[in-house]
Amino acid sequence: MNDLHGKTALITGGSKGIGYGIAECMLKEGMNVAITSRRQETADDAAHKLSSIGTGKLISLGADVRDFEAQQKAVAQTLEAFGSLDVLIANAGLGHFAPITSLTPEQWHETIDTNLTGVFYSIKAALDELIRSKGYFISIASLAGTNFFAAGAAYNASKFGLVGFTQAVMLDLREAGVKCSTIMPGSVATHFNNHEPNPADAWKIQPEDLGQMVVDLLKMNPRTLPSKIEVRPSQTK
Ligand SMILES: NC(=O)c1ccc[n+]([C@@H]2O[C@H](COP(=O)([O-])OP(=O)(O)OC[C@H]3O[C@@H](n4cnc5c(N)ncnc54)[C@H](OP(=O)(O)O)[C@@H]3O)[C@@H](O)[C@H]2O)c1
Repeated sequence: MNDLHGKTALITGGSKGIGYGIAECMLKEGMNVAITSRRQETADDAAHKLSSIGTGKLISLGADVRDFEAQQKAVAQTLEAFGSLDVLIANAGLGHFAPITSLTPEQWHETIDTNLTGVFYSIKAALDELIRSKGYFISIASLAGTNFFAAGAAYNASKFGLVGFTQAVMLDLREAGVKCSTIMPGSVATHFNNHEPNPADAWKIQPEDLGQMVVDLLKMNPRTLPSKIEVRPSQTK
């Protein structure tokens, strides 16, 4: 995909944070982009903010990744709008952080259902189109998918699982010409876990840095596949 102009991407969780930053960079490349959120209104608000960026077209969809039918509908709406699907970014995610003594079944299920099962639903819904287009599947995992920490049981389980899932899917799909990568960021300046991005976040990775990384991956020579990418802030504060 040397020239990304006119290529189509579906980004789960593109209403803010990393997904939004990836959408910005793709639109600047002239790509057509579908972003999702749990709520249609939130997706529409983000699309309004993105509307002046780049030359690509944009649609906004309410589609909860925990709902398989909603993912199928999001893919159908993307195809209806743009005619193809070249790239799936499985980005939607959240974190509940609590020690096992206080971690609740509701927190466990919301984390696993969103961060792990939600990615399975997203790629299952998009699979036929990605095989047809010989496209690219990128999951946004985390350094928490290789480094465990106290109070991280649910989040670590979801992200360790996601790293393994994406690597196995990579082996399943590479002979079909579909590339799969997982990006494992450290601290990124986003709204994650109810954080409000602020000037003190300047040392962190910024969402657009990951957007640029995604664009670089898409443009990489077809013969080469960085399948698992750890990325961290170069400074610690
Ligand atoms: N920030 C970090 O330091 C960091 C580090 C490593 C990895 N990550 C990962 O990066 C990904 C994006 O997180 P972020 O940091 O950008 O956080 P964020 O600013 O809170 O954005 C999260 C995005 O996910 C969406 N989302 C959450 N649950 C969803 C669901 N069930 N269905 C559809 N969309 C859903 C949100 O949309 P709505 O709220 O509008 O529904 C929002 O667009 C996550 O997978 C996270 O684990 C983040």
